[in-house]
Amino acid sequence: MVQGATNWNTELTQEWLQNYVDDWVSFYRKHTVDGNVASYIPILQEANRDHLGISIVGKNGMTIRSGDFEVPFTIQSISKVFSFIVACMGRGLSYVLDRVDVEPTGEAFNSIMHLEMTQLKKPFNPMINAGAITVTSMLEGRTSDEKLEPVFQLLERMLDYRPHLNVDAYESERDSSMRNRAIGYYLLETGYLESDLNITLETYFKQCSIEVTLEDLARIGMIIANDGEDPNNKEEIIPRQVARLAKALMLTCGMYDASGKFAAYVGVPAKSGVSGGIIALSPPRVRDEELPFVTGCGIGVYGPALDDKGNSIAGIRLLRHIANQWDLSLF
Ligand code: DON
Repeated sequence: MVQGATNWNTELTQEWLQNYVDDWVSFYRKHTVDGNVASYIPILQEANRDHLGISIVGKNGMTIRSGDFEVPFTIQSISKVFSFIVACMGRGLSYVLDRVDVEPTGEAFNSIMHLEMTQLKKPFNPMINAGAITVTSMLEGRTSDEKLEPVFQLLERMLDYRPHLNVDAYESERDSSMRNRAIGYYLLETGYLESDLNITLETYFKQCSIEVTLEDLARIGMIIANDGEDPNNKEEIIPRQVARLAKALMLTCGMYDASGKFAAYVGVPAKSGVSGGIIALSPPRVRDEELPFVTGCGIGVYGPALDDKGNSIAGIRLLRHIANQWDLSLF
């Protein structure tokens, strides 16, 4: 059984927090039965729907790992945060924001509807597929590998190793993603593609197929929470203004048409992927009492059983519980 409200003023030791998180993960693992693994990208059906894991990395280095935290998975839509950051760093904020807006849609991640609805036809935000494909088209380079190189370099700087591309996942999406091709053709017609359609889509499918672990996501989340600075060496990896914009977009658009509820009930910037991963982060917060990870943390959650919006069902419930217990909310 999950414990009730706790006085966190006592001992914030790693072992103590670890026990709580283990307890919560085993409780919420039972909720995976309420969801289903994604099937529209065939390879994603192979995931184990019972998996649930979490990793939390604090600014002070404290790390909690629980459940199926060692299972690698492809980042899918979580890559939209990284391609957006790289496009802003390479092209400049105003160039990027001239071509993609920062408004939530309240629609599914792969909706085409809004591309038809406004006069400008500008994609609503970089976290939905239309906006993300426009962002990917802005990455510099002639081939998909050249375009992705700065994304890999950014990840490598944050993780101290270079993640690899899961070629099977890439091919599975490339051969099945008719909806993204349709979105691509819309963007081509309305002038919101900066590179060749096929190269852009190839790049997009590849960025979604980068493989990571939960600890990778938690570490990246912790750096974004810290306004783009690596607390270990004080190095600026992402310019502060870009990190702030990424956080605002994660909060308002990162969970698609569940973003409002997530902001209301969990209250932290997050981005989900259809493989079941979620990156979340808690910036440093000012409170009168001692709380876990008060100086900020990054969180990675993995649970491939999804709700009908494409978000990890047990992952969201686990995150909500932890955010409530530890008062992680921004608000
Ligand atoms: O574009 C797609 O369909 C996938 N590669 C990524 C979508 C995704 O992760 C949506 N997330 N919940």
